[in-house]
Amino acid sequence: MSQPTHLWLREETKQAEHRAALSPAVCKTLLDKGFKITVEKSAQRIFDDEEYSAVGCPLVEGGSWKQAPKDAYILGLKELPEGETGPLEHRHIFFAHCFKGQAGWKELIGRFEAGKGKILDLEFLNDERGRRVAAFGYYAGFTGAAFGLDAWARQVLRDQEGKGPTQYPAIRPFKNEEALIAQVKENVQKAIQAQGGSGTPPRILVIGALGRCGSGAVDCARKVGIPDEQIVRWDMAETSRGGPFVEITESDVFVNCIYLTSSIPPFVTQELLDAPTRRIRSIVDVSCDTTNPHNPIPIYSVNTTFQSPTLLIPSSNPLSLELMSIDHLPTALPREASDAFCKDLLPTLLELSGPSPLQDSRVWKEALELYEKKVQEAA
Ligand SMILES: NC(=O)c1ccc[n+]([C@@H]2O[C@H](COP(=O)([O-])OP(=O)(O)OC[C@H]3O[C@@H](n4cnc5c(N)ncnc54)[C@H](O)[C@@H]3O)[C@@H](O)[C@H]2O)c1
Repeated sequence: MSQPTHLWLREETKQAEHRAALSPAVCKTLLDKGFKITVEKSAQRIFDDEEYSAVGCPLVEGGSWKQAPKDAYILGLKELPEGETGPLEHRHIFFAHCFKGQAGWKELIGRFEAGKGKILDLEFLNDERGRRVAAFGYYAGFTGAAFGLDAWARQVLRDQEGKGPTQYPAIRPFKNEEALIAQVKENVQKAIQAQGGSGTPPRILVIGALGRCGSGAVDCARKVGIPDEQIVRWDMAETSRGGPFVEITESDVFVNCIYLTSSIPPFVTQELLDAPTRRIRSIVDVSCDTTNPHNPIPIYSVNTTFQSPTLLIPSSNPLSLELMSIDHLPTALPREASDAFCKDLLPTLLELSGPSPLQDSRVWKEALELYEKKVQEAA
């Protein structure tokens, strides 16, 4: 009998990263299928250590993957600990962020080459149609829409109280989806009531509504209680005539969820935002093509953060307008985001069993080939 496949869940060392590459529920399924799993303890992970031990995973100290058996796959989400330079001997499954020429890519690949390790990058595990097997998009759109609606409500309430515009407060991760929805729902209801007899629910426009992020945004708006007729769903068909689109400024909240692949005319321009008829007060750019020369929302140039979530966009129209461009939104809902991601990743992880999974399974074989290609490019 062949040895069981050994997965080793490392602790995340990136600050404020609460998500996990393996959930306790997925660990349970993998154990039932004969996998061996080791879990590093972590105080910042959204799942408690005990949730893993309860399903039968042995716990070890954080960072001990360096001493893991050489045949273990080391699983994580984000970057390896900062400032380290030594050779890397294991096969690591994570978002390495080094296959698109990012800063430090050659150095990281060099460490793997020096230790004869491998990168199996989560970003490039694709199904036979070329779609990512697991991604965090749904909860990016979901949380983006939630914060966009909340920002709108807070601005309306401040206006009613005669206070000036202010930026959205720092965001801490929510315990669960219910807590996030409850907060947003309460503020949106208050804002609708504060508008008096004419108060109507906000109109939210989602572009890229048929995609992963977009469907999360639409589902969130529904859960917040926005009536269907106030949720405007656009995708390729609606934008094919080319922007800019006045419909954006006629909405209250705009959530951009497109996957940008080519040069397209801007969706919105400063000129449109300056128009005296502008209604919109909250834009969330989930796509975050911030530094892309074809960014369809060319009214800003930096990513915002959980600490400082929005920019106030200057405009000659006095109605305040906030823009959010956080590029790791699902971190705000770490439990649900991890659960969904891990569930989607599970079938691919199951393909790691067998005598030579990196050769026998298409998805892993391609991941390994991509790594080897990047090694050549880095040489
Ligand atoms: N901010 C974050 O935290 C975060 C997290 C995950 C993903 N993202 C980003 O969100 C974007 C979308 O990701 P996804 O997984 O939802 O992609 P996806 O491929 O599932 O969906 C993209 C959708 O956009 C539509 N689209 C593309 N071009 C369009 C256009 N010009 N007009 C209208 N619709 C258009 C597509 O038809 C598709 O329905 C990506 O850029 C991704 O990197 C951001």
